[in-house]
Amino acid sequence: MNHGAFQNVQGTKDYLPVEYSNQEFDSEVYRYIQEKFIQFATCYGYKEIVIPTIEVASLYQRGVGDTTDVVQKEMYTIETSKDTISLRPEGTAGVARSYIQNKLYASPNETVKLSYRGSMFRRENPQAGRQREFTQLGIEAIGNASPYLEAEVIALADQFLKSLWLTTFELQLNNIGCKECRNRYKQELLGFLENQVGLCEDCESRKIKNPLRTLDCKNKDCQKIYTDVPLLKEFRCEVCENDFTELKRILTLLDIPFTENEKLVRGLDYYSGTAFEFVETSIGAQSTLCGGGRYNGLIEELGGPTISGIGFAIGLERLFMVLQKNGLFEKTKEFIDYYLIWTNEETRDIQMKIANILRKKGFKVEMEFSFKKMKSQFRIADRKNAKVVLVLGEDELANQEITIKNMDTGEQTKEPLINYLEGGD
Ligand code: HAM
Repeated sequence: MNHGAFQNVQGTKDYLPVEYSNQEFDSEVYRYIQEKFIQFATCYGYKEIVIPTIEVASLYQRGVGDTTDVVQKEMYTIETSKDTISLRPEGTAGVARSYIQNKLYASPNETVKLSYRGSMFRRENPQAGRQREFTQLGIEAIGNASPYLEAEVIALADQFLKSLWLTTFELQLNNIGCKECRNRYKQELLGFLENQVGLCEDCESRKIKNPLRTLDCKNKDCQKIYTDVPLLKEFRCEVCENDFTELKRILTLLDIPFTENEKLVRGLDYYSGTAFEFVETSIGAQSTLCGGGRYNGLIEELGGPTISGIGFAIGLERLFMVLQKNGLFEKTKEFIDYYLIWTNEETRDIQMKIANILRKKGFKVEMEFSFKKMKSQFRIADRKNAKVVLVLGEDELANQEITIKNMDTGEQTKEPLINYLEGGD
């Protein structure tokens, strides 16, 4: 009996070397994005944490929130005779658990900065940009409540997205207040919701369990109803309002544009104060590339000290979609910094020396060792995606110069040869 070949589970993906795949599943791009993220996180002082893919279900029930869609509807949970275990739907609760268990709060560093990456699992209806297994790139900074840290966290996400040549995203910002602000607001919001007719089924149920979540309902009829909804900003206490003003001031100082979105509430319960999303305009419905915010009560809620945290997570599959949509895959290809061209034995020796010096400085450098025409050396440089080609021919040698060709712009300049022979000791 032929049962047919196995297929991957809906909402999961294989990433293959590009020669076996269409671009959407290119494993080289997958790795490139992750490496770039680690590079950025490292520049901002984040160290990598690796946490398990499974945790006890109650960690998410208490951490992420019992009434959230993620916990109520989307977790893959297995009950064994001993415990109930879930595949992680997100990374923050697991990082917080590890932070407490390993007593990282005893660290002499005021702020513990951790980065992570890996698969998350949510039982969703698969569609473009919405997977059942997806990859998050995330950071968490625990132990400091300064708006400067918030701005730094947002700057990291902003710079990382820009480093992938993304230009059509928007940073949306809100401050959802502390517990006290939200409690006051919830009363007002409930009063408003109770007087509305025609709310969707989800909003009817959220109204009771988690009224704030009604605000980011995507249903068009609900959105119409919420045009007149009372806004949280009218209920923010002075401390939250000042924090928000200060964060906006620092973002402006850093030239990071943002849009205030008073209805941005985020889908997970641990948030308080600052909440933000990076939203892409060039893809369809699943356009939130990155979501994050402050979580002041989470560590305490999970049994740790009273300490504040902030972080974000980026969905790698959504970055793929944007890169593909905007024809940016080529840019992620491996490159070398310098390709060195020579024309005779003497210039080969000098280029060999220069290669050695540049590599010592940390550059990726390549050259041929057997004689090839200049044209074919340029072809190889092109294939290897060289950023810069250094040409040392007889004319250059006679003038004690070297030709520098920028392969992106085609621009050619000359410099004294000695400049490239310095720093070899
Ligand atoms: P989140 O908004 O649930 O936040 O997810 C963050 C990002 O993960 C989303 O913006 C999206 O790009 C991606 N994502 C979420 N669900 C899916 C899915 N089903 N398929 C593909 N991509 C998806 C969190 O997870 C928080 N832990 C972020 C955070 C960290 N907040 C503070 N620290």
